[in-house]
Amino acid sequence: MEKILELGARLEACAGFVREGKVPADIGTDHAYLPIWLVLSGKVPAAYASDINEEPIRSAVKNINYYGLSEKIKTFTASGLEKTPQEKVDDIIIAGMGGDNISAILSGAEWLKNRRYRLILQPMSRASRLREHLYKNGFDIIAEKAISEAERVYTVICAEYSGESLDYDDCSIYSGKLDSSDPNAATLLKKQVRILRSVAEGCAAKGDISGQAHFIELAQQLERDADGGKKDDNG
Ligand SMILES: C[S@@+](CC[C@H](N)C(=O)[O-])C[C@H]1O[C@@H](n2cnc3c(N)ncnc32)[C@H](O)[C@@H]1O
Repeated sequence: MEKILELGARLEACAGFVREGKVPADIGTDHAYLPIWLVLSGKVPAAYASDINEEPIRSAVKNINYYGLSEKIKTFTASGLEKTPQEKVDDIIIAGMGGDNISAILSGAEWLKNRRYRLILQPMSRASRLREHLYKNGFDIIAEKAISEAERVYTVICAEYSGESLDYDDCSIYSGKLDSSDPNAATLLKKQVRILRSVAEGCAAKGDISGQAHFIELAQQLERDADGGKKDDNG
């Protein structure tokens, strides 16, 4: 009987951004469910799976062997993208880590600044800082999807190198390419509005009036997006 693997909504959303027929590298793979699913489904011909720790790699190897995919999925222990064979991979997946850790991993691989690669990033925290990192380094966010799993809402960011320094405003760091008509995206945007309002209160408590005004303005702009309203010329 054929062995089936079902992904949760979070990893399924990551898999959805992987390009058909390309070779992905799953960084911080842990159990390797994502590369296993991608190869088993026939979406990709082969994959790489790495992790900074030995224990997750042992679990990855066990699962890969169970599905009989040891010829198609190569595993290795490495920090970030250090040992990833850049000439052999196309799509880079980094999921289930903090946004700052993902930014640090991207910073360690200048070779990613190439239109050949697609980045599929699923931060567990600080998505705004990750978006800012991408924009500052010439990566364009081409799509973003919010998904709900185990009563938490996550975002998955799909980015590619544009080669240009992108013009972005402060609000787009918080909203990215989230589609506010999607209820999960609206939940994330509203959460971000609450965070910005509490940052504004923190500024007020310190007597930083211009900081307070800045974050209130951002919160209001984002709130209009979350409500499905369009940003107008008055900001
Ligand atoms: C919570 S698990 C996520 C597993 C899987 N990617 C997912 O989304 O379900 C995070 C994994 O990232 C690994 N990790 C953390 N920092 C890393 C780094 N700098 N380089 C490679 N792997 C890392 C951890 O060892 C752990 O196995």
